[in-house]
Amino acid sequence: MTQYVIRGGRPLHGEINISGAKNAALAILPATLLVDGVCRIENVPDVTDVTLMLEILKDIGATVSPAGGGAILIDSRGVRADSVAPYEQVRRMRASYYLIGAFLGRFLNAQVAMPGGCNLGVRPVDQHIKGFEMLGADVHVNAGFIHANAREGRLVGSPIYLDVASVGATINIILAAVMADGLTVIENAAREPHVVDLANFLNSTGADIKGAGTDIIKIRGRKLLTGGAYTIIPDQIEAGTYMAAVAAAGGEVTLNNVIPKHLECITAKLTEIGVEVKEYDESVLVRRTRRLRKTNIKTLPYPGFPTDMQPQMAACLSFAEGTSMITESVADNRFRYMDELKRMGARIQVDGKLAVVEGIGKLSGAPVQACDLRAGAALIVAALGAEGVTEVGGVYHVERGYEDVSGKLRGVGADIRVEEVDDSEMAGQTG
Ligand code: EPU
Repeated sequence: MTQYVIRGGRPLHGEINISGAKNAALAILPATLLVDGVCRIENVPDVTDVTLMLEILKDIGATVSPAGGGAILIDSRGVRADSVAPYEQVRRMRASYYLIGAFLGRFLNAQVAMPGGCNLGVRPVDQHIKGFEMLGADVHVNAGFIHANAREGRLVGSPIYLDVASVGATINIILAAVMADGLTVIENAAREPHVVDLANFLNSTGADIKGAGTDIIKIRGRKLLTGGAYTIIPDQIEAGTYMAAVAAAGGEVTLNNVIPKHLECITAKLTEIGVEVKEYDESVLVRRTRRLRKTNIKTLPYPGFPTDMQPQMAACLSFAEGTSMITESVADNRFRYMDELKRMGARIQVDGKLAVVEGIGKLSGAPVQACDLRAGAALIVAALGAEGVTEVGGVYHVERGYEDVSGKLRGVGADIRVEEVDDSEMAGQTG
């Protein structure tokens, strides 16, 4: 198993190029199933979740060829209506549920293994299912697979009100509705940049989607979508994570290939705690020269503060002066990494959806384990600002969503080594 060994306390200086957005890629790649032609997708991040999505597409019959410089050519015309997305791959990634919307949209029929093995009707996919049903599909689970079939041999546009502004449900409904008959209106739609990116991609192929980026999205079904080239937006959360790294470690770093507007919710909080952020057209300069101040954070759907940045900010706030409160109002169970931060000396109390972080100015290196992607990112941020050496295990989680994180950090002066350790050693460290 791989771990990162980080000697903290070195300010970061230089430039980092931000990769394409993982969560946009995970929507746009399966969306190519709807397209009758070759799609050239550019700025595809080289992260393991994306690799897995590309493997799934190949397995179901798409032709996938790297075209150099982060571009991928995808031709999904060879995918058959009865292709089944394999359980072994689908279960490893939640975003594989976008295959349901894409298959249903193209073939009026989908069979996809339940991502993560959830039961039908449980909260995390109820809004997806509701959307498919409103478009005229029957949806049921059998032998671990979700089966969705257009009831009368066609999908018909419909108004769909989401009970929660779910990113996944909004994207899945767009995928299913984009070739349906008539008009679909999603109300209380998610407004995240990757929802807009998916809509822009589909519109570039001939779809008619209006309002993405607002909470009402209107999709008028089109019968034929044709190929072309599309560039994925930069990754908001990857950029935010490196901004947090500068906040924790100090120094001055320019992040290139970003959309500063997408970062505003993160920039605003970092500015509040004493980090300087200068925005340029496609880059931001982040500088920390003084001790951080406390703040309060509440995660919210976009344009609120993203839940995917909550752990990295908690790591920063441990270095601040004063006590900060973090309210997690989007995701369940997203404070699990706190115990690992405590191993580094952080003083944090968690009560349900609220975490109270006492800023103690410094953390000390320790062996820690990432339990998910953003938890791993938070531990790296903490390690960069901590005194001494931190061994971050479970970094395969991090590599699901961050391209070459160790190389990018080394490029700005971080002391970070990638090490292979045997699993029994890791188990010993974490008890
Ligand atoms: N929810 C429901 N019912 C549903 C769907 C969602 O109740 O049918 C609830 C969830 O339980 C959660 C809330 O709605 O409490 C928001 O979930 P959402 O559907 O918006 O999240 P998601 O689509 O599963 C995406 C990102 C996550 C990110 C969330 C929130 C992708 C592939 N994943 O997940 O990204 O945290 O939106 O912004 O786009 C990550 O990148 O680390 C990550 C976890």
